[in-house]
Formats: sequence, structure tokens, C-alpha cells
Amino acid sequence: MSTVLVTGANRGIGLALVSAYADRGDTVIATVRNPDRLHDLATVIESRPDRIEVHRLEVTDAGSIAALAERLAGRPIDVLINNAGTIGPDHQSTADMDYDGWLTTFRINTLAPLAVARALLPNLRLSDRGKILTISSGMGSMSTTNSDHVAYRASKAAVNKEMQCLATDLAEEGIAVAVCHPGWVRTEMGGENADISPEVSATGIQHVVDRLALTRTPVFHVWDGGVLPWCARRSAAVFAGARNVFFVDRRTAATILPSGLAAAPVASIFAAVGAAVD
Ligand SMILES: NC(=O)c1ccc[n+]([C@@H]2O[C@H](COP(=O)([O-])OP(=O)(O)OC[C@H]3O[C@@H](n4cnc5c(N)ncnc54)[C@H](OP(=O)(O)O)[C@@H]3O)[C@@H](O)[C@H]2O)c1
Repeated sequence: MSTVLVTGANRGIGLALVSAYADRGDTVIATVRNPDRLHDLATVIESRPDRIEVHRLEVTDAGSIAALAERLAGRPIDVLINNAGTIGPDHQSTADMDYDGWLTTFRINTLAPLAVARALLPNLRLSDRGKILTISSGMGSMSTTNSDHVAYRASKAAVNKEMQCLATDLAEEGIAVAVCHPGWVRTEMGGENADISPEVSATGIQHVVDRLALTRTPVFHVWDGGVLPWCARRSAAVFAGARNVFFVDRRTAATILPSGLAAAPVASIFAAVGAAVD
């Protein structure tokens, strides 16, 4: 049996994750902003009181994170799921941006997952199979071209990169790090017209966690076992030269622009321009 910590556990996907892990017999540390208002989490705890414990955590508050780490000191944690998140401010288009709201979105969706992971590293190190999964979003993939919810999309794209860095840094310690798109889920955030229930999403996420492999280049998992591309499918690599900017399709290793270089092998392009931007 494992010990699993889930942030943002009082509703939505977080609540369903608590339920799913407790049903499986795992010990769940459920963190919430306000333990005095547990709502549906209270009902879930009633049915499995011995498997779920609740701790206060406001993920944007360094003091709250430190207090949690202090309360959990010396206890192994096998899985940390950074689930707490926000969709961001009402105004978040490129033409009309609430910049303060964007900063708050970044604090919750981007800065907090690393801060929480760092604070709980001593606990993850006490496990012989420590895993960190951050709930990201397909809206943060560079392969999509929609332009709504800029603050949210940017915060998720940034957390993806940040988790790749963490994966690199923790690989030697045997701690696996990855991100997961939970699907379009019927929660307060996803809305009632979304594709799947929180329970279906949580079961899928559980399988993703079970299969998480140790790697320096973590996968952008999807709840149903699929994967999302990190970046645009076609121009996976962009090379900037002194006079030209051109694109290389990784699958065919042929340049797309300019036409004069269309058949040039990748190696010669590296030699020609010397700079690569991924
Ligand atoms: N639903 C979807 O379709 C969908 C799609 C892609 C990705 N996701 C991601 O999945 C995760 C869960 O989303 P959800 O749909 O379950 O959202 P939700 O129903 O809106 O729940 C969000 C959870 O995060 C908590 N939270 C927000 N800000 C917090 C903070 N500063 N400190 C601590 N907890 C905080 C909330 O606590 P309070 O109750 O106290 O506010 C709540 O428990 C998020 O990371 C979201 O971005 C969701």
C-alpha cells in the first residue's frame, strides 16, 4: 500500500483522486485550503475514516507549505499529486489581460507545484519509489493553436517545462516526475458539459501514476493512457541563423523553409547556423 498526497482535495478531480486511492487501500493525505469547509470530502472521509487524513494547505503561501512539511516530517510519501489549480481571471485574452489575475494564476498553477514538491522532497526520499505527478492541461501544449485563456494556457505550459527540469534533477535520486492532462472533466472548472466524470479521470490518472517510469525527459501523459506532444507537431525544431530563420521537421529531417535549403540534412544546417532553439 502507498501513501499518496493530493492537493486541492476538497472537490473536483482532487476529491475523486482521494476517493479512488482510499478505495484501493492506500493512505491518502488530502490537503485543502480550509479544513472547516470540507463539503463532499467529509462524506468521503466518513466511509473510509482510517485511510484519509486532512491537512490545511494554501499552495501559494510559503508559511502554509512549510507548516505542512513540518507536520509530515519523517513520514514517507510515495506519490505527490499536484492537483490544486485555477482557470485564472475573467479577462485573459491577448487583447484584454488582467495581469494581476495572471500572476495569481501563475502562483497557483506554476510556482506552487515546485514549491510543494521541494518542501516534501524529504518525505519522497523516504519512499523507495517516490513519484511526483503534476496535473497540467492539454491547453498548455504547444501543439494547440487556440488563443483563449492565455493566463491559464501559459501557466500550464510553464509548469510542463518546470516539471521537465525537476525530472532531470531528481532522476539520480530515483524520483519519477511527470505531468498529466486529466481530460475535459465535469468539475467546477470543466463545467457540466465536459466529456468525463471526475471519477473516470481519477481512475485514469491512477493508472498513469502506477506506470510512471523514471526518466529525465518526462512524458506529457493523458488520463486515458495516451500522450500529448510538448510542442508543435510540424516544426519541432526552429533554427535561427544570421540571415534566415527556418524550420526543420524532425520526422522527415527536411527543412520546410526556405526552399533553397529544403533538402539539406539536419547536420549541415547545424553547421551552417550554429544555433538551435527547441
Ligand atoms: N476540469 C477540467 O476539465 C480540467 C482540464 C484540464 C486540467 N485540469 C486541471 O485539473 C486540476 C483540478 O481541476 P478541477 O477541474 O478539479 O478544478 P476545481 O473543481 O476548480 O477544483 C480546484 C481545486 O484546487 C483548489 N485550489 C485552488 N486554488 C488553491 C490554492 N491557492 N491553494 C490550495 N488549493 C487551491 C480548490 O480549492 P478551493 O475549493 O478551496 O477553491 C479546489 O480544491 C487543476 O490543476 C486543473 O487545472 C482540469
